[in-house]
Amino acid sequence: MTRLVHLSDIHLQIDWRQRSLWSSGWRGAPGRFELQGLGRLRRFHGVHDRIRRLVDKALGREPHHVLLTGDLTALGDEVEFAHVRSLFAPLLAEGRLTVIPGNHDRYTDTPRSRVFERMFASELRSELPEHADARGYPFVKLVGKRLALVGLDSTRVNSWGHYLVGRLGRSQLKRLRRVLDDARLAGRTVLVLTHHGPFGPSGKFNWRESGLLDAGPLSRVLRGRAVVVAHGHSHHRYWHRARGGAPHTFGGGSSTEGTAAGFWQLDIDTHRLLEATAHSLA
Ligand SMILES: [Fe+2]
Ligand SMILES: [Fe+2]
Repeated sequence: MTRLVHLSDIHLQIDWRQRSLWSSGWRGAPGRFELQGLGRLRRFHGVHDRIRRLVDKALGREPHHVLLTGDLTALGDEVEFAHVRSLFAPLLAEGRLTVIPGNHDRYTDTPRSRVFERMFASELRSELPEHADARGYPFVKLVGKRLALVGLDSTRVNSWGHYLVGRLGRSQLKRLRRVLDDARLAGRTVLVLTHHGPFGPSGKFNWRESGLLDAGPLSRVLRGRAVVVAHGHSHHRYWHRARGGAPHTFGGGSSTEGTAAGFWQLDIDTHRLLEATAHSLA
């Protein structure tokens, strides 16, 4: 049995009111409006302390490994990422944290700067690098003898649309298929990590809650495989149980927002035989 803790959407923020509007550039403008005009800064007030408690509580579950499925920050600023790194230092030091990017982690980024990949270079290193594209996805980590983690980048929307929806893209899905066919993963349960999930809380595609444009193609790649899906983006926490050839799918919710802050504890024997417990941060 392997124990994982699944965290998501922690949205660490600096006090953006202290920074000029220009500091986040034109790409960050809608994000700044959401923070300051629509009340997001207030909703995540005190998030540093909540992350500190979250890390303590997660460590208390004694997991083999911790997953953090994107939206680590409010706007993808380097200072925000540096704070996240320092708060997760106990897990990072032991190589027990795996991260993938969310849409918020890209808001002030450019395809050239790749701040997220720079800040988490060692955590994103793949054990099967020949399957990764030029940006490093999908990456693969082997956990113990029974489990593998595959990290995807669902933020490949090159327009303002990235504020609403996500996409993996055909080439990344093709590479994911190759990873899942690789004989070195035979006998392991594969945790597939994506920020945007294939379904919303109702179990159906929902662009406001899950927003993965290529949900259908992803589901076809995963059908009948020994996989479990862990995703973020929707700030609701839910579990869609495996059915037919579709895998168990976990929405991580936001681990730090309001009264629903918390996380999943996953005790995994195989992709079909697992236990999941939702823990509240309160
Ligand atoms: Fe989020
Ligand atoms: Fe998101």
